[in-house]
Amino acid sequence: MSDQWWGHAVLYQVYLRSFADGNGDGYGDLAGLRSRLGHIRDLGADAIWVSPWFPSPMRDGGYDVADYQGIDPMFGTLDDAARLIADAHSAGLRVLLDIVPNHTSDRHPWFLEALEAAEGSAARQRYYFRDGKGPGGSLPPNDWPSAFGGPAWSRTTGPDGRPGQWYLHLFAPEQPDLNWSCSEVRADFEKVFRFWCDLGVDGFRLDAVPAIGKDARLPPAGIEFNDVFSPSGWPETPLWDGDTVHEVLRRWRDVARSYKPEKALFGEVIVNGPERLARYLRDDELHSVFAFELSRAPWSAPAFHAAIEGILDGPWPGRARPTWFLSSHDEVRPVTRYAPGTAGTSTASSPVRDLALGQARARAALLLMLALPGPACIYQGEELGLWQVEDLPLELLQDPIVARTGDARKSRDGCRVPLPWDAGAPTYGFSTSGPSWLPQPPAWASLTAASQRRTPGSTFRLTKRAVELRRELPELAGTGFEWQQLGAGVLAFRRGPRFACLTNFDAAPLELPGRARVLLASGPLSEEGHLPPGTTVWLACPPG
Ligand code: NOJ
Repeated sequence: MSDQWWGHAVLYQVYLRSFADGNGDGYGDLAGLRSRLGHIRDLGADAIWVSPWFPSPMRDGGYDVADYQGIDPMFGTLDDAARLIADAHSAGLRVLLDIVPNHTSDRHPWFLEALEAAEGSAARQRYYFRDGKGPGGSLPPNDWPSAFGGPAWSRTTGPDGRPGQWYLHLFAPEQPDLNWSCSEVRADFEKVFRFWCDLGVDGFRLDAVPAIGKDARLPPAGIEFNDVFSPSGWPETPLWDGDTVHEVLRRWRDVARSYKPEKALFGEVIVNGPERLARYLRDDELHSVFAFELSRAPWSAPAFHAAIEGILDGPWPGRARPTWFLSSHDEVRPVTRYAPGTAGTSTASSPVRDLALGQARARAALLLMLALPGPACIYQGEELGLWQVEDLPLELLQDPIVARTGDARKSRDGCRVPLPWDAGAPTYGFSTSGPSWLPQPPAWASLTAASQRRTPGSTFRLTKRAVELRRELPELAGTGFEWQQLGAGVLAFRRGPRFACLTNFDAAPLELPGRARVLLASGPLSEEGHLPPGTTVWLACPPG
């Protein structure tokens, strides 16, 4: 395994609750993940990013951590984690653990202690407790909004039952923000990093990193509580991406470097523009950040062109590059994003979603992404062509966004529906018994991992072959990249003199360059050998 593996890695994101259930309670867990590691190994990934596995009340799917050095019983035990890491390593897979520095759970011992402690006490200094404004302190201390809707403040109740101070939470009220200007918080996290590194993880996916760079004086932001929470659109804001985040990242990099081989740090960093993003990629900070551009691009050649160019031409200070991705546990699945129409009943202006077209486009987008230079990440189920489940019963939705906004359409649960493994088994083999925590659509019977492994041309087989070729072809491992102009509606680029990737977004069927050999195509070519719309092809071409 190479020391600089992250530079060209294929990551596979495991959303643990929905990957595979080993104990029959309807939720995915470590035993389930271990039993299905072969799927990820066969796909050819270099590493898995595992969503938070810590003890948690699960008010935000585990991104509300009650103990940073344990495993939630729903997922297993520390021994299970150690076994998972060992099995993954034997399968040639590295393990990145998702860690959540900006906020704890409101059940974390620190927060419980802070609630009991006096105003201004050391226990309260680990978080942001402030007096309210207005008569009786009944208004939030400032105008900061929560990413999940409404104000970023909730009021405490004192021991006498009377309203007390307010505390800050940039996400759900059950996720109070830590105060990163507090040295105890900083020191504790270093211990947490070492704990997991010593257990054998190969690095971390760092959640909502810029949120720890907030101005501890908490000045007004000039944002309405119900404005869209949009760090990529805020030029300068006291609640996000301040300079102090970089002091912290440098310390984390020191910790990462103190291990041999070095541990890898992949950050979730949404900030305003490439200059701000580049600061996170300095040689003594993160190894990579997730590039949100592709996941936000609609299905069009100009949109993909702009997304890719913005990253390729970024002002990156050293060798570290952003990681491409189309999909995650937070995004609407690409099949649905690219499928015209709406869920459910058709109307005159909007037909029922064309999922077959969405699937063809999502395969094309995946092949395009895997041809780009730099690391890439595949979200579980993307390799099976799964779509967003848009008709989950309201009472089953768990995403806190639904409770905060009252808007079921915003729920991220639809991309978190458990994976289908085997058609013949209940829950398609996801769970050893009980129903899965979210129901799977009957149509997923034809998309199971087992059937796709057997079926030539399946999305699984396509992804596997693409990952294989990405490793085999020297052009794809390098950094060479050159756009080619083949007309509107088409995106084409070369990687070195002998490799080309062409995507026909919405142009007429495209004649392929003469003497080129098709290495891989995301869908069938036309009878004349032309590239139909909604298709990507990888070509071995003669130089020139
Ligand atoms: C980003 C995570 O990906 C998301 O799932 C979570 O809700 C927020 N950060 C808050 O931790």
